[in-house]
Amino acid sequence: MEIKNICCIGAGYVGGPTMSVIALKCPNINVTVVDANANKIKAWNGPLDKLPVFEPGLKEVVEKARGRNLFFSSDIEGNIEKAEMIFMAVNTPTKTEGEGAGMAADLRYIEACARDIAKYSKSDKIVIEKSTLPVRTAEKIKEILISENKTVHFEILSNPEFLAEGTAIEDLSKSDRVLIGGDDTESGQKAVNALVSIYANWIEKEKILTTNVWSSELSKLASNAMLAQRVSSINSLSALCEKTGANIDELSMAIGMDHRIGRHFLKASVGFGGSCFQKDILNLVYLCKYYGLNDVAEYWHQVVKINDYQKDRFAKKIIEYFGGNLTGKKIAILGWSFKANTNDSRESAAIKVSEILFNSGAALSIYDPKVQKKTISNDIEALWETNNSVLIKNRVEIVENLNDIKQPDAFVILTEWEEFQFIINKESVIIFDGRNINQNKNKVSIGK
Ligand code: NAD
Ligand code: UGA
Repeated sequence: MEIKNICCIGAGYVGGPTMSVIALKCPNINVTVVDANANKIKAWNGPLDKLPVFEPGLKEVVEKARGRNLFFSSDIEGNIEKAEMIFMAVNTPTKTEGEGAGMAADLRYIEACARDIAKYSKSDKIVIEKSTLPVRTAEKIKEILISENKTVHFEILSNPEFLAEGTAIEDLSKSDRVLIGGDDTESGQKAVNALVSIYANWIEKEKILTTNVWSSELSKLASNAMLAQRVSSINSLSALCEKTGANIDELSMAIGMDHRIGRHFLKASVGFGGSCFQKDILNLVYLCKYYGLNDVAEYWHQVVKINDYQKDRFAKKIIEYFGGNLTGKKIAILGWSFKANTNDSRESAAIKVSEILFNSGAALSIYDPKVQKKTISNDIEALWETNNSVLIKNRVEIVENLNDIKQPDAFVILTEWEEFQFIINKESVIIFDGRNINQNKNKVSIGK
């Protein structure tokens, strides 16, 4: 099947950058990203320095392709109808109510997508799972499509995304691998080949791995779980380093130099954040329990538990340093995003650590180079347990400039933004470095 029009549902951190790169690399295919959020679409069509996603290199890609063969639109119906290939890149957060609440993936957005696809399709479609989904979700999607549209043939593929925020454009341009899962039928394999030929425009054929749908769906969850497990492993050892006088950076170096282990994802920190690691592991835990594999579930659950322990441990370390109470202390919170080079604060360690410090009596001055003030205050309002808005107003300020933070009792670095480097080199300031971005005597950091 020749693909002339692609539609992607979901213009978020995955849909936006992924489709921008596909459009850039495939100038003969029209790529339209649609979203239910009209403001987001407006922002994607707006000034390049105000795109809804901040990623190094993204605005250059959008600048080249937008209006040529890359489009952002609120017309979901028209673009589904027109496309031969439809990517679903909508959010799949952890369920907050009903069966599996707190663990299982909430599939309501993916199911809504499937219903829209069924409703608006008048010709055969290849439907692609780009979102991260529990294994065997394709079955559910197929059920919805077939029961709600009996005239069109739908082929479902799994093509999980492995980009990391902050390096998305680089990751998409030079992926380690592209994974495509499809049915072992003639039409299934035709659909797989159609997607392979899109990626083959810029990814070497050997890096495009084709599997069955279930392996592809599960590989994505397993990959995130393995990466997060390394971070929790090194973080658990950071606690032991602090007790024994071993140095966690030296430990990471020594462990990582073994080529069988490798040096990546061994950087001790205040804990991993981001919208996916925790939710994907919890989803994996839920799946294991669902299939009666309770020991396996407990093994993976421990990765999340150690992550919570690390955030808590780091905050307590700061409180202990000041004698067990932060009343009357002013703490500068440097960094709100969950890692550098992104404006995404979902599940950021900063949210939890700052809440613990606030609850211990501290006044906080919060600064992040890319996360908007509005996002920070929304996070506080939605995610901190306290609903005492007067107290928050009196004791929390969010500043737009690092220099606006006047004489704090301590700096707490929670994101490894390059611009915090100079603080590290300052003499006579107290620094709690949750990101371990440098080694310096006058700071208290993880694992030393
Ligand atoms: P996001 O929240 O940034 O974007 C999702 C978008 O989908 C939102 O803009 C929302 O308005 C839109 N949407 C939801 N339901 C819709 C519907 N029915 N119709 C139209 N639009 C709808 O989420 P994200 O970070 O891009 O993640 C998307 C998926 O990709 C998730 O499953 C996630 O686990 C996975 N993933 C994310 C990353 C990452 O780095 N963020 C990396 C790999 C995989
Ligand atoms: C992660 C995976 O790396 C991607 O492959 C995957 O596609 C994505 O999740 C997803 O499914 O959403 P991301 O969360 O964007 O990407 O960023 P990472 O670089 O993996 O960092 C995650 C967190 O772990 C950050 O808070 C980071 O600071 C922390 N981390 C990472 C450490 O604490 N130590 C490390 O050594 C590495």
